[in-house]
Amino acid sequence: MNIPFCLPENITPEDFLQNYWQKRPLVIRNGLPQIVGLFEPQDIIELAQEEDVTSRLIQTHQTAEGEKWSLKRSPLAAEDFENLPKQWSVLVQNLEQWSPELGALWQAFGYIPQWQRDDIMVSYAPAGGSVGKHYDEYDVFLVQGYGHRRWQFGKWCDPSTEFKPNQPIRIFDDMGELVLDEVMNPGDVLYVPSRMAHYGVSETDGLTFSFGLRYPNAADLLENFCKTLEHHSEVIAGSEFNIPFRLAPHEQPNALLDPKMVKVLKHQLIDLLQNSDQFDEIFTHSVATAVSSRRYDLLQTDNEYYPDEVQGILEEGGWIQQDANVKMLYTENPQRIYVNGEWIDELNEAEQNLLIRIANGDAISWNKLASKAKDQEELELLLDTLCDWLDNGWVILEEAE
Ligand code: SIN
Ligand code: CO
Repeated sequence: MNIPFCLPENITPEDFLQNYWQKRPLVIRNGLPQIVGLFEPQDIIELAQEEDVTSRLIQTHQTAEGEKWSLKRSPLAAEDFENLPKQWSVLVQNLEQWSPELGALWQAFGYIPQWQRDDIMVSYAPAGGSVGKHYDEYDVFLVQGYGHRRWQFGKWCDPSTEFKPNQPIRIFDDMGELVLDEVMNPGDVLYVPSRMAHYGVSETDGLTFSFGLRYPNAADLLENFCKTLEHHSEVIAGSEFNIPFRLAPHEQPNALLDPKMVKVLKHQLIDLLQNSDQFDEIFTHSVATAVSSRRYDLLQTDNEYYPDEVQGILEEGGWIQQDANVKMLYTENPQRIYVNGEWIDELNEAEQNLLIRIANGDAISWNKLASKAKDQEELELLLDTLCDWLDNGWVILEEAE
């Protein structure tokens, strides 16, 4: 399925990235009609109770002292859905694991680099249900998949924004001045910039899908960088710091770690890393592993594909494409492919080129595959490799319609 970019007609990807991305919210009416009909509320309520699903049940109880919220994390069971108050919501994460059709809709946001994809979450709520007024530390496209939901957007928040005390979820009362107040209908999309206060309340039974984006923070990068260094000790091996003999008057107390000395060490460490020939390569590797790693475990499948079978399906007009559930990216100079947080270093050139095409969104037909191989032997090897990728869940095989 070829899905056009989800943007209003008069806004190009460049406009969006320059004028809206992390700056302003945007309503995209009927931006993703392909989502309508994929799920009904009951599908999500059942999925939320499956083993291996990450889900949350949020209840809002009206009491004499005001609203009291409760949160239960998965595993959820049928009994959790009995005797619910009038207002409640259930949220399920990482939906692309359960629905390749839904995962394929990431293509609609293909103007954002793939490495920023986090996951697709869904919320179900009956009329009146909400997860409260809050902000998130990530950008998100909210897609109404079923029913109608009213959204209000307000102030910009930051880590100093206070949440209500003694509640199990991070919510507040003060939305600040409203900058948007709209009802979303099935297929409508709302872009919410990171850290903007938002509040959605179902007007009817409804499903809202959140296509969430993410970026590494400094802690993630430093942690990964240190892990990478453990395997590349040559970058720092034998490097000794030059400790100035006396930074402060010698009457300085003997046990004091002189802050000037700490500063000198800091600068020498930064210089050492910056001037190392391998720094860029190692840092790129740390970023690539950090941003291609999964937040949710991969479901174990018992797929077993055979070359003849795959060849047959491709020859009949089928194609291979990336499974939206996999995190795939590549780097240049050196060219390396990373899948689910790991550098895949065993690929030959033909395999590497093929996987890069797939990661860039290409659908691989039989003709394309055959043109990638220089002879019959290489074609057979590529088919074997494709079977491995299918078994691993990196790619999916679609049959001709
Ligand atoms: C929801 O669908 O209500 C939760 C999505 C969000 O607010 O980020
Ligand atoms: Co939110």
